[in-house]
Amino acid sequence: MPVPLQRRILVTSALPYANGHIHLGHLVEYIQTDIFVRFQKLRGHECIYLCADDTHGTAIMIRARAEGRSERELIAEMRQAHLADFAGFQVAFDHYGSTDNPANRRLCGEVWGALRQRGLVVSREVQQLFDATAGTFLADRFVKGTCPRCRAADQYGDTCEQCGATYAPADLIDPVSTLSGSRPEVRSAEHLFVTIEELHGFLAAWTTSGALDPPIANYLAGHFLGEPLRDWDVSRPAPYFGFEIPDAPGHYWYVWFDAPVGYLAATAEWCEAHGRSFDSWWRRDGSTPAEIHHFIGKDIVYFHTLFWPAMLEVAGLVLPTKVRVHGFLTVNGQKMSKSRGTFLLARTWLDHLEPAALRYYYAAKLSGGIDDIDLNLDEFMTKVNSDLVGKVVNLASRTARWLAATGLAATYPDDGGLFAQAAADSAAIADAYEEGDFARAMRAVMLAADRANAYVDAEQPWKLAKAGPDASGRLQDVATVALNLFRQIAVYLAPVLPGLAEQVGRLVGGPIRSWDEAHTPLTGVPVAAFTPLMKRVETAQIEAVIAASKQDATQDNHTTGGSSMDTPTAPPADSGEALAAEPLAATCTIDDFAKIDLRIARIVTAEEVPEAKKLLKLMVSLGGNDTRTVFAGIKGFHDPAALVGRLVVVVANLAPRQMKFGLSEGMVVAASGAGGPGVYLLSPDSGALPGMRLH
Ligand code: 2FM
Ligand code: ZN
Repeated sequence: MPVPLQRRILVTSALPYANGHIHLGHLVEYIQTDIFVRFQKLRGHECIYLCADDTHGTAIMIRARAEGRSERELIAEMRQAHLADFAGFQVAFDHYGSTDNPANRRLCGEVWGALRQRGLVVSREVQQLFDATAGTFLADRFVKGTCPRCRAADQYGDTCEQCGATYAPADLIDPVSTLSGSRPEVRSAEHLFVTIEELHGFLAAWTTSGALDPPIANYLAGHFLGEPLRDWDVSRPAPYFGFEIPDAPGHYWYVWFDAPVGYLAATAEWCEAHGRSFDSWWRRDGSTPAEIHHFIGKDIVYFHTLFWPAMLEVAGLVLPTKVRVHGFLTVNGQKMSKSRGTFLLARTWLDHLEPAALRYYYAAKLSGGIDDIDLNLDEFMTKVNSDLVGKVVNLASRTARWLAATGLAATYPDDGGLFAQAAADSAAIADAYEEGDFARAMRAVMLAADRANAYVDAEQPWKLAKAGPDASGRLQDVATVALNLFRQIAVYLAPVLPGLAEQVGRLVGGPIRSWDEAHTPLTGVPVAAFTPLMKRVETAQIEAVIAASKQDATQDNHTTGGSSMDTPTAPPADSGEALAAEPLAATCTIDDFAKIDLRIARIVTAEEVPEAKKLLKLMVSLGGNDTRTVFAGIKGFHDPAALVGRLVVVVANLAPRQMKFGLSEGMVVAASGAGGPGVYLLSPDSGALPGMRLH
C-alpha cells in the first residue's frame, strides 16, 4: 500500500465565549472537530488542534461588574471550567489559548496595520443606545423593549422572539437598559469601519474556490455578494473590555475582530512551546502551505467566510483550506432556546452519563452538512446500548476470556474472509471521516460489527469451551478471529472512542497508534484479563440528567449563544386518529412531486379579511423583490400580528386564483385534520431562508 504523503493540517473550533459554560450544543462542534483531528493523527498526518477562550466584549465586562470582580478574574475561572469540560469529553486540544493575551494583541496589531496600510479603515459617527446610569454603550442584548413590528413586550434590542423581526435597538418602543433599568438615550459615537467592499472580487472568487460547500457559497452569493458589501464596524468606544486600538486611543477592537485572530495567536503560542515556526503555518512564503480547517456553526458563517478571509488576504496570510459548517443541536426535537431556561451543561452530563456515549451518538448523527442534529434521548439510549454495548463491546466480552491463558493463536485462522473484508472497507471509512460524514463511517463500522457477531453466533465459542480439551484449539481460533475483528473495529472507532481504543490496547496488542493496524491481524500475542469495557445506558441516568439540568437552569442564567434547551421529555405515543381519518392519497412519482414548487417564505404583513369567516390576507416574501398576496384559511387560529416576520412554507407555483377579495398568488401550507381542531402552520428549522426550496 503506498505511504500517503504526510499532510500538515491546522484545525480549529470556534472559540467559546468566556462568559458561559460549555453545553451540549457547543459539544456538537468540539466533539466533531476532535474526531476529525484524531482521525488525521491516526492516519499519520501532522495535525494540530487549536482553540482558545473568546474573552472580550461587553457581556464579559457587564457580568464581571455584576459579580463585583475583574474581567480577568472571571475569565481565568471560566477557563478552568472550560478546560475541565473539554477534558471530560476527551476533546484534546494541542493548545488552548485565550484572546486576552500578548500574542493576540500583537497579531491584531499586525492585521490592523495591514488594513490601515491598504487604506481600508475609515471613521464614521454611529448612533447607539447609551446607559447613562451604567456609563456604557449598550450591546443589543442589554436593551429590552417592545417590538416595533408586532408590539410584543420584553424583546431584545436586535430581534423579536415573537415575530422574528430584526431591527436596530434605537427602533425599540420604550427601551429599557437591562443593566440599570433606566431608559437609555441615543448617543452618537465615532466608530472605525473596514471597507471590505474593496475586496469584493477577491471574496467572490475565494468563496467559490472549493473552501466552502456549495450551499454555503450559494448563501453568500445570494445574501451578501450579490450587492456591495457593507462596511464592517470593527471598533467600540470606551468603556469596553478588549484591546485598545494602538492608533486610535479610546477605541477598542470589537470582539469579532480579535476573536478569529485568536486562531493565529493560539498557533503562535503552540509554536513557541514546541520550537516550531509560526510562519510555516500561516505565512505565504512560497513553500507548500499547511491546510487550515475551521469548524464553525452556521450562525457564524458570515464572520468566517467574508471578514476573516478578507483579513487574512490583506495581511498576506494563508487562507482557510476548508470552512466546515455544521447545524445546531435540538433536544427531543425542540429548538434550543435562551428564553426557556433549561440547560444541558457538559458538566451535568458528565455527572450522570458517559462522554463516550455522546461522542458516538453525535458521530452517528453528523453527516458533514448544515442540517441541525437532534439529540433524542430515547434514541440515544437505544442506539448506544444496541451498537456499542450490544454489538461492539459484546464481541470482546463473549470471547476475550477464552484467550487469557493462551493468548492469540500463532497463525491467523481462516475466518471466511471477514478480516479482509473489513480491511477492504478501510478506504471508504477513511473517506467518510475525511468528508466529515461520520454517520457514514459509523454505518460501515456497524456493518462490520454485525458480520463479526454473526460469526461468533455461528461458531458458539461457549459450546466449544464446554466441549473440553479436544475443542480447545478451535476455541482459541474462534476467539482469535473475534478479538481481531473487535480490535479492527476499535481502530476504526478510535477517533470517536479514544477511551475504548485505549482499553482495547491494554486488552490486546498494545496502544492503537495507526489506522493501518486495521489492515493486518494480530497473532501470537498475550491477551490480558478481560475487564468490562462499557456499561449500558439506563433510563434512570437519563432521568437524573434531565432533573439536574432543570436544576442548573434555575441556578445559572449566564450561558450564552443559543444556550438553553427545551427540557428533554420522552416523545408522546401518537394516536393513529389523524391518519385513519384521512387515508393516504394515491402514490405519486417523484416527477409529480417535483411539479409542486414549495418554498420558504416570510410573512411580511397579515390582516383579517373582515367579510370572510376563515381568511387572512397575507403578504409573503420569497426574498429579494418577490412578494405575493396569499389568502390563507387560518383566521381564528392565528393572531395576524403574531404572524408577521414568521417563516412558513408556500406553494409558490400555484396558478393565481381570483377570489372575491382579491387575487391569491400561492398557498400557505398548513396541517389540519382529525385529532385537533387547529390549523397548524409549518415552520422550518432555524437557518432556513426565504426562497429556499423544499425537496
Ligand atoms: O459565536 C461564538 O461563540 C464566538 N465566541 C465564536 C468565535 S470564533 C472565532 F472567530 F474566534
Ligand atoms: Zn415582534
